[in-house]
Amino acid sequence: MRWMHMLRRMYGGERIFYPVLEGTIRDKILEAIEEHNVMKSLLQQMDDLPKDDERWTAKLKVMEENMRHHIREEEGGIFKVASMNFNMEQLDDMGRRFEEAKESLRP
Ligand SMILES: [Fe+2]
Repeated sequence: MRWMHMLRRMYGGERIFYPVLEGTIRDKILEAIEEHNVMKSLLQQMDDLPKDDERWTAKLKVMEENMRHHIREEEGGIFKVASMNFNMEQLDDMGRRFEEAKESLRP
């Protein structure tokens, strides 16, 4: 399911990438964590609503907007900083641990 993929991606980011970048761009990392919290909360709320409820659709739209903004900031800022602060070997290692963290959340 698409949402499970999103949750795994957020979990992996928080476990692997965010802690090592906190010292460099703490404000951006804190902001990203709050964006994750908003998305997790919306997913939870949507889970409790029938899909034909108009509030479900409203929540989906807000989540998609938040997600687009979040991904832009991650790719344009957070991951760019990571690529400048770590060498290829370190980035490969983080990438591998990110995949492992994501997998560990699989039901
Ligand atoms: Fe994220």
